[in-house]
Amino acid sequence: MNHVIINSDFVFPNPEIDAQHKEIYLLSKNIDSIINANSSTDKVVESLKAYYQKLQIHFDAEDALIDQFLTDQDNKHIYLHRSSHQDILSQMAKVISNIERDKTVLGNVFSIRNIFFRFNYDVVFYDEQLASLLEARS
Ligand SMILES: [Fe+2]
Ligand SMILES: [Fe+2]
Repeated sequence: MNHVIINSDFVFPNPEIDAQHKEIYLLSKNIDSIINANSSTDKVVESLKAYYQKLQIHFDAEDALIDQFLTDQDNKHIYLHRSSHQDILSQMAKVISNIERDKTVLGNVFSIRNIFFRFNYDVVFYDEQLASLLEARS
């Protein structure tokens, strides 16, 4: 059973970013399968680190679009969207260090799924909002 909630309907107007969304969704499903298969702690950590790196690249790409095209009148969106990205990254960094310290995944499964959920929320809420703002400002 897969526990990862994904939304694949939304298409971000920038194809590179849209492809990253699909890749990150796929990675999260793979991580969920790795966890469900009771894989070793090392294997889970390795997959989470790869996920973290993809998130960093992805959020940097979105932040660059924000810098390039949004204006002062978009301040609320800019603040909340950037906070969402930073929060997801810091939650994931915390989970990785918890697992490395405790040598067990089990106590962090809820947090990992929560991060996947928050990424999905970022896409369907903040990224959709960003797409509308980019359209309005172009
Ligand atoms: Fe995104
Ligand atoms: Fe985003």
